[in-house]
Amino acid sequence: MAELNIKRPKGTQDITPKEVNKWQTIEGVCKSAAEDYGFSEIRTPTFEDTKLFVRSVGDATDVVQKEMYTVTSKGDSEFTLKPEGTAGVIRAVIENGMLNEAFPQKLFYITQCFRHEKPQAGRLREFHQFGCEMIGTKSPVADADLIMLAADVLERIGITGTKLNINSIGCPSCRAEYTKALRKYFSKYTDTLCETCISRLEKNPMRILDCKSPVCSGIAKDAPVILDYLCDECKEHFDKLKSILDAMGIEYSVNPRIVRGLDYYTKTVFEFICDNIGAQATVCGGGRYDGLVQDLGGADTPALGFAMGIERLLIAAKQCNAEFIEHLNCDIYLASIGEDALLKTAQLARDLRGAGFVAEYDIVGRSLNAQMKYANKINAKFSAVIGYDDIKKGVVRVKNMETGEIDNLSLDDSFLDRFSDVLTSYVFGDEFLLDKD
Ligand code: HAM
Repeated sequence: MAELNIKRPKGTQDITPKEVNKWQTIEGVCKSAAEDYGFSEIRTPTFEDTKLFVRSVGDATDVVQKEMYTVTSKGDSEFTLKPEGTAGVIRAVIENGMLNEAFPQKLFYITQCFRHEKPQAGRLREFHQFGCEMIGTKSPVADADLIMLAADVLERIGITGTKLNINSIGCPSCRAEYTKALRKYFSKYTDTLCETCISRLEKNPMRILDCKSPVCSGIAKDAPVILDYLCDECKEHFDKLKSILDAMGIEYSVNPRIVRGLDYYTKTVFEFICDNIGAQATVCGGGRYDGLVQDLGGADTPALGFAMGIERLLIAAKQCNAEFIEHLNCDIYLASIGEDALLKTAQLARDLRGAGFVAEYDIVGRSLNAQMKYANKINAKFSAVIGYDDIKKGVVRVKNMETGEIDNLSLDDSFLDRFSDVLTSYVFGDEFLLDKD
């Protein structure tokens, strides 16, 4: 029979137990920072009606034109694995009547996303986003508060040296003039623009500004910038945001070239860049999308948000030597000699686990020697060997695997308490033991 040699799909990653503590650290920091800012978690389906993304992300974007994983189910519906989190959240907010609840709605998520891109370091086909969405406020204070949250998440993870770039891409009214100017500019280059951008020239010339082709992006470098076309309201919003960021002491640069790759944005857009993680340096991207709720069938409601790529946060955190939570090591390995002792260790392990200790015993059928070797391999902090005599005497010798020190513990109701003392003094020193007298 031919050997089956199935590999994971290109652009996907396995997160093995050796790496998972780093993920747990980052996810934990994201979650607790979001909760500190008053955000609640929302979970939406992995796949959505394709029309949701075409409508929100935009049919002239790279994401919709080139990167969606679309599947047809046995019926007649067409679904797409979510390429980003915002569209599904806004759909869920509308569908679940959450627009009738107190504003602003503040929601966060940690989710897989799928984009059929050319894989490279920091760019995957299945990746993970931590995202935050704020629905129901048009105040620039909200923009600043959201940016402050993103900055805090990076700081709490231990990622230093990121740069915040902000821009305003206006509203549909100021964009009409800007679109005309872009069309005029790019029309001079119809011989050199890529085929996709030629089609964008009519449909949505702003999308040419984030084309990944080096030729198109070279041409786009000298294109008119939206900041010169902002209407009074958008200009005022942007000026207010800048003055609030100044007052908050949050450093930023205005980069008039940021347009973001998704169509739903209005007014503020921003990105956090981490220069030392390679070509895919944007660790966070976001902005306002004041028209999206209404576009998807809800009442006219302003909104804004951001998302961070967790894979990129991980690369950045490692570069910055950030600290990660430790793996849980085995607290005690209970070795046994003989059937009665094995059953005793099973029972003890259950009690220990119930009290919150990581306890292991022999579920393989190893010799005593092999059991002790295994205890060493898994870095057990303590071990105990239980035989028939120990059960009869009701005492077990608990050995500190690092120092070889022995404590005799009674195999009665006091065992859990006594083991807890032994472990506490091992981890923190004797002075941390509660006075039991
Ligand atoms: P985005 O800029 O497309 O925005 O993605 C947000 C972040 O996800 C990026 O800054 C990057 O860190 C990460 N990311 C994107 N694509 C990949 C990929 N192929 N591989 C690894 N990481 C990736 C959004 O998705 C918007 N929904 C953000 C938002 C939320 N705007 C408002 N609310």
